[in-house]
Amino acid sequence: MAFLVSLSISLFIYLACSQARGLSSNHYEKTCPDAEYTITKVVKEATKKDKMVPAAILRMHFHDCFIRGCDASVLLNSKGKNTAEKDGPPNKSLHAFYVIDGAKKAVEALCPGVVSCADILALAARDAVVLSGGPYWDVPKGRKDGRISRASETIQLPSPLFNISQLQQSFSQRGLSMDDLVALSGGHTVGFSHCSSFQSRIRNFNATHDIDPTLHPSFAASLRSICPDKNKAKNAGTSMDPSPITFDNTYYKLIFQGKSLFSSDQALLTSPKTKELVSKFESSKQTFYKAFASSMIKMSSITGGQEIRKDCRVVN
Ligand code: HEM
Ligand SMILES: *[C@@H]1O[C@H](CO)[C@@H](O)[C@H](O)[C@H]1NC(C)=O
Ligand SMILES: *[C@@H]1O[C@H](CO)[C@@H](O)[C@H](O)[C@H]1NC(C)=O
Ligand SMILES: *[C@@H]1O[C@H](CO)[C@@H](O)[C@H](O)[C@H]1NC(C)=O
Repeated sequence: MAFLVSLSISLFIYLACSQARGLSSNHYEKTCPDAEYTITKVVKEATKKDKMVPAAILRMHFHDCFIRGCDASVLLNSKGKNTAEKDGPPNKSLHAFYVIDGAKKAVEALCPGVVSCADILALAARDAVVLSGGPYWDVPKGRKDGRISRASETIQLPSPLFNISQLQQSFSQRGLSMDDLVALSGGHTVGFSHCSSFQSRIRNFNATHDIDPTLHPSFAASLRSICPDKNKAKNAGTSMDPSPITFDNTYYKLIFQGKSLFSSDQALLTSPKTKELVSKFESSKQTFYKAFASSMIKMSSITGGQEIRKDCRVVN
């Protein structure tokens, strides 16, 4: 009896919490039943034309969630004196905004004023992973869009130069664990990076080493030839892994070989707990997929907005 009472209490708390967050799998079941299908179609079409679209959308969703919660603040345009997140410093790999605009337009034609831009981005990020061969997960929905976006706040994003304690802090501030950190870093199995994001590892690393000694020597040499000069190589860069349009667990294998691009990737080997997870995900793609899907649900449930925007680029 006591067990049943405590079970129903915890069930009540659980339901109350998920209601407070306002997210549920069937949020649009009655108000816009075809929303998900419509968004998937738009992301699929865009990916056919540009293979780098999925990586762009996945990173966009991560940036959105890490600043003010997943409230589509990353989608807002600068206006008047306000410089928005998308025009802030770590904006280089933010692109493919047009895909979210296209999805919003298609969904608005079906059910105007119902589906938030934040939900569209969360769904599109899931679709991006599935279209790249990665895992599927059911996306909880019901996010609201925010009214504030400030370029100055993008310094709150983790830097590729972060060590393990800085990464841990950045994630834990958002309710994410070390397990989430290792799983979500696996997003670096797709996409492209500019030289500026790893430049400091391949030249003038520190007083005793010109090149970061954790980099594999031949890999470091190839990065140096891709990125010849700090100023000339503005658009130069390289793919995140040798299969940049396939969502697999290659990323974790590369870390052990000293062939991951960022210090923040390599840093996952510097604590026993995270190193063990890197090893687990390296040896089992299925284990990685399961962990990635559950950590994505956690990250994408950090909410923050107030309204359902009509146009993802401007507040109502
Ligand atoms: C752990 C902290 C993280 C750091 C320090 C970090 C840093 C970076 C940097 C520096 C780039 C390259 C930007 C450029 O030079 O163009 C990048 C790209 C990327 N990141 Fe992360 N990231 C982190 C976590 C994540 C997470 C959690 C995800 C998603 C689950 C993610 C997904 C991506 C993707 C897909 C790209 C490629 C983007 C493209 O091709 O357009 N990252 N990241
Ligand atoms: C990125 O931000 C810089 C300022 O930090 C800005 O000059 C540039 O136009 C932005 N790029 C994009 C693609 O938004
Ligand atoms: C990480 O960097 C911070 C800031 O530079 C430093 O205080 C800390 O000791 C470093 N931690 C590790 C584990 O290297
Ligand atoms: C340079 O980095 C290497 C590897 O991280 C380290 O062993 C060495 O002590 C560093 N040297 C200086 C002067 O900081």
